[in-house]
Amino acid sequence: MENQILPKRPYVVIAPFPFQGHISPMLQLATALHSRGFSIIIAHTIFNSPTPSNHPDFTFLPIPDNLPDHPDTSIEKRLDLVKTINTNCQEPLRESLAQFITQGDGNDRVACIIYDTIMYCSEAVAHHFKIPCINFRTVPASVALLYDSLPMLAAQGHIPYPNSKLEDLVPGFPALRFKDISTSDLGSFKDVLEDRIFTNASSKYSANIWNTVDHLEQTELTLFQKRYPLPFFSVGPLHMIAPSSSTSLREADSTCISWLDKQAPHSVIYVSVGSLAVLEKKVIHEMAWGLANSKQPFLWVIRTDLASESECNLLPDEFIQSVGERGCIVKWAPQSEVLAHSAVGGFWSHCGWNSTLESLSQGVPMICQPCNGDQYINARYLSHVWKLGLHFENALEKEPIKQAILRLMVDQEGKELRQNAIRMKENIRVSVSKGGSSYESMNALAELILSY
Ligand code: UDX
Repeated sequence: MENQILPKRPYVVIAPFPFQGHISPMLQLATALHSRGFSIIIAHTIFNSPTPSNHPDFTFLPIPDNLPDHPDTSIEKRLDLVKTINTNCQEPLRESLAQFITQGDGNDRVACIIYDTIMYCSEAVAHHFKIPCINFRTVPASVALLYDSLPMLAAQGHIPYPNSKLEDLVPGFPALRFKDISTSDLGSFKDVLEDRIFTNASSKYSANIWNTVDHLEQTELTLFQKRYPLPFFSVGPLHMIAPSSSTSLREADSTCISWLDKQAPHSVIYVSVGSLAVLEKKVIHEMAWGLANSKQPFLWVIRTDLASESECNLLPDEFIQSVGERGCIVKWAPQSEVLAHSAVGGFWSHCGWNSTLESLSQGVPMICQPCNGDQYINARYLSHVWKLGLHFENALEKEPIKQAILRLMVDQEGKELRQNAIRMKENIRVSVSKGGSSYESMNALAELILSY
């Protein structure tokens, strides 16, 4: 009998936005889809290009982005960068894909484009080729729901809001205060309301993929689903679904793992504000002395671009001498490995959504110190809804910092948060295991793509 030739599964095009916190979950999604038999094309900008050798099974399609070598990623310029990338990449993405399709042997079918919400130029390209597109959300449902409600809140006269309302709850959002709607990276509210990035204005996509977990955001997912009745798939945390895929744009310093090996269980506070946040030198000094005075062991990520002022010796010599072996400082950490290490007892974080999911998956409670955008909402949910972290809202000065570290690492309050975090870790483990909500949702997504 002749060997039966199984039908080849189609290609899925993945179009990430070129920031670390956006590239990682999309590469993880690509890995999960590849393991379900799909061929993968990563359509990526030249700026912050992922490393093809880390993913030998994928086809990489570089999209000329016409950006300078070092584009301005500062919070003030971030919206402009999003718009520029979308304007510059639409035509090159269409051309590259057309070339890929014509060069194939005729059996290479592209089933759909899965694109980051803020890589929205992909929609027009998908429509050009008459293939479906699926919107991938790098933020939690709670954040998308709030952004989507901004026009309504404006029409009802709730925003812009006066300073006297900062502490008031946002109507329809029982967990959020007006001050949790960060305007720092949104520009003026007028810009926001006119901008499709923060609303769900497009109806051109055929499904939503969320890097979240059903039991974490059941209410928000249901509300969003009612508003936009499209198929949706909550498949997170994606780093748990595709744990082996290496997605970092920077080289991690693994020496911190041997340092962690020498520390007592749950004794270390891990400190990182993610891949983009920039802090003033005086804030970094206050953090340093807060850490030193707490007398707790710490692992601190100080990226080369963390400080707003470039400086050779960012940290004072007296601080380095005073902490000695009790502190470990790296330019970039293997974060997932760090959070999984038994020595780590707390995470002082900016509450980026990936960092949040990585911490929850390992049962590590947090000090939540948001820096901008969605992080304020994540911090509020972590502290007031899920009860997995302390919301640090004091002035960034050494004494309140020391107190917050002690509350998390030493006090009864921290022990209770750790218990909650350990329960969350178990819930997440169940969700990503066979039969769990995220695992089954990933299978359902694969079925949908196959049906195209
Ligand atoms: C930003 C937003 O804050 C976030 O909420 C949004 O959804 C994506 O963009 P970012 O500042 O990059 O993200 O934070 P985060 O989402 O936490 O992503 C950072 C990633 O870098 C994480 O996956 C983390 O594991 C990784 N990282 C960070 C390292 O691998 N090593 C480090 O030293 C620091």
